[in-house]
Amino acid sequence: MKNNNRSEKKNPILEVENLNVSYGKIKALHGVSFQVYNGEIVSLLGSNGAGKTTTLNAISGVIPTQGGNINFMGENLVGIKAHKIVKKGIVHVPEGRHIFPELTVEENLRIAGYLFSHADEKKLLSERMDYVYSLFPRLKERMRQMGGTLSGGEQQMLAISRALITGGDVLLLDEPSMGIAPRLVEEIFETIFTISKSGQTILLVEQNAMMAMEISDYCYVLETGSIAFEGVSKALMENDAIARAYLGESL
Ligand SMILES: Nc1ncnc2c1ncn2[C@@H]1O[C@H](COP(=O)(O)OP(=O)(O)OP(=O)(O)O)[C@@H](O)[C@H]1O
Ligand SMILES: [Mg+2]
Repeated sequence: MKNNNRSEKKNPILEVENLNVSYGKIKALHGVSFQVYNGEIVSLLGSNGAGKTTTLNAISGVIPTQGGNINFMGENLVGIKAHKIVKKGIVHVPEGRHIFPELTVEENLRIAGYLFSHADEKKLLSERMDYVYSLFPRLKERMRQMGGTLSGGEQQMLAISRALITGGDVLLLDEPSMGIAPRLVEEIFETIFTISKSGQTILLVEQNAMMAMEISDYCYVLETGSIAFEGVSKALMENDAIARAYLGESL
């Protein structure tokens, strides 16, 4: 059983404090704060344009911030370049997947091991390849198929697998359910839960609030760039009135 009692936990592995992000004159995030503890799945919910993707992009260093701190294992990540943030242990599966369409499934996975250079890391790459193929047998069956010919759901599986091969202490997932058939969404969410059971910490961004709450420990609801609600996912799911008030359109 996981320990879901946050008050008993030590320091968060990732803590966003008072984050501000603007695109020109448009303020996308104003004063966003939240914590992710080791081993948790935390969901960041909210409707279109609430600022979910902006938050993940700021954490992984893809976009600049205009105020606030992003503390990861005691270090402030603000101002650090994206490629260095990956090496520090934050791995991001962006919205829209971004796999290599002209490469096979196997090649897409091998490329994710670009950070591995030593002989023992080559062994690690092959172990991680076996691990992701066991998580997603569909990918193993399609290892020689071109990435671009996979279905949307299979491409999402490939994108998550690549992130797992790169490896990181925190996995950022941006809307893994987007544009995918319900049957595959279910399979992907079950696998995200399995990945979490192995100890992987996950920050999950979703518009599909119900699916995200089912697998997450704790959730935050973003509304026009601010956190409007936070709570234990199970409690929020059981409190229909609050869930409707904050997540009406996403339920
Ligand atoms: N590159 C950009 N330039 C200008 N404004 C942007 C840019 N990216 C996002 N925004 C704006 O910032 C706000 C937050 O967008 P963001 O993409 O973070 O929302 P989201 O919660 O991920 O939405 P969705 O669920 O539709 O993906 C929106 O008002 C959006 O229009
Ligand atoms: Mg988004």
